[in-house]
Amino acid sequence: MDKQLLCDKAIEAMRYAYAPYSSYRVGAALLTKSGKVYTGCNIENASYGATNCAERTALFKAVSEGETEFEALAIAGGKEGNIEGAFPPCGICRQVLSEFCDNNFKVLLVTCATDFAEYTLEQLLPLSFDQKYL
Ligand code: THU
Repeated sequence: MDKQLLCDKAIEAMRYAYAPYSSYRVGAALLTKSGKVYTGCNIENASYGATNCAERTALFKAVSEGETEFEALAIAGGKEGNIEGAFPPCGICRQVLSEFCDNNFKVLLVTCATDFAEYTLEQLLPLSFDQKYL
């Protein structure tokens, strides 16, 4: 799939963000190796700690439907839904991604409606702790 199209889907997913506490709207679009796309948004909670990030929403939707092999993830976010630069994944999301995705898994950070910065999971989480240590 075209990378910009995956970014477009992440931007669309921002629409469903539930973010009454931070006002940051985040969207993610996860591409499986079989070519399917699972989207997700951030879902906040009054306890703050129970908040789920957009990336994990997308990943958990996919895994809960039997998908465990992934190619790429696009992420878009910004205050009040305004994209003013890249919205990089938090450390918890990087670790959860590393459970299912290999080092060459692509992470596309939307920088504006028509552009993105591309990283590998290895760049975002070098020397990650995963199954090979167990
Ligand atoms: N957030 C995400 O959805 N993804 C990230 O990787 C970073 C943070 C959300 C959580 C919270 O709802 C808001 O952004 C502000 O932290």
